[in-house]
Amino acid sequence: MTKANKTRTDLFGKARMGYALVESLKLEDWLRFARDALGMDVQMQGDTLIGRLDQHARRLVISRGPLEDVAALGYEIEDQASLEIILQRLQQKGVEVEAGEARGAALRGVEQYWRCIGPKGLPIEFYVTPILSDAPLSMLASGYVTDSAGMGHVAITSRRPEAMLGFWQEILDARVSDDIEQRMSGLMLDIRFLRLNERHHSVAVACTRGRRMDPIRTRIQHMNIQCATLEDMTAAYQRCRQLGYRIMMGVGQHTNDRELSFYVESPSGFEIEYGWAPIAVDEENWQPTLHQGISTWGHKPLEHNLGDELRQAARAIRSLIRREYTPFDPKH
Ligand SMILES: [Fe+2]
Repeated sequence: MTKANKTRTDLFGKARMGYALVESLKLEDWLRFARDALGMDVQMQGDTLIGRLDQHARRLVISRGPLEDVAALGYEIEDQASLEIILQRLQQKGVEVEAGEARGAALRGVEQYWRCIGPKGLPIEFYVTPILSDAPLSMLASGYVTDSAGMGHVAITSRRPEAMLGFWQEILDARVSDDIEQRMSGLMLDIRFLRLNERHHSVAVACTRGRRMDPIRTRIQHMNIQCATLEDMTAAYQRCRQLGYRIMMGVGQHTNDRELSFYVESPSGFEIEYGWAPIAVDEENWQPTLHQGISTWGHKPLEHNLGDELRQAARAIRSLIRREYTPFDPKH
């Protein structure tokens, strides 16, 4: 072991997902979706939609623009010292990091932030101090579970899973929670789940076995938010159906984190997984395992149709000729 390795600080437990920035031309639909279907606290301020889940002034921010995708993910870092280490690691790997401007910080609801382009071209941002709000939350859900484990997780499909995983492992010291193999439309998917803290996973990375293909248009396949009660989840499910949003997978339970959830298509195309009661990882006794299939029951594709299948197949084939961006070559 080299001296550098010996003195390496472990940042596990120091990072959590803090906000998501989305760019969309469908702000009115997002307002209805996030407020009336999901049940978040949502306010429209000019050309920006601001979603709250808790005392943070901003958790989901949707700006008007043509991307129709996630524009950035923000990670809250425990303290300034840990942030410095992250910035140093990025610099050592040759990743360009920009300090955010005051206007950008205000948009995100943080005091200051730093930004780099992460794997698959997804901007990844880091901050220490969120702006809090004591305005009462006006929302249909009784609450969301955020706190020290962050606001949920994202799942990303990748043609370069080693580089994607390496980014989280080498910059934030993410740990592997477990793996799932899942058969889907005749393909085998390998999904690896990474945790940044006690939340079972903050990032899941899925790839096709053998020839790597990416059938998903958006940078993330889904973003998960965790509601406080089972009733919050079932009521959100009913509201999504009543308001005509597409349920991509009905209520079910995952094999690995045991979360009960459903998946609904957002106005920008990526899915929202609305979940309840995932297990937390006990670092002392945790053993990574390989699970067969993502669900013990349910999660049936309710509104997938032939059009979806064909579009995804066409994207998968087109993805073969494009190179997926990666900020550095990982050691793993
Ligand atoms: Fe998920």
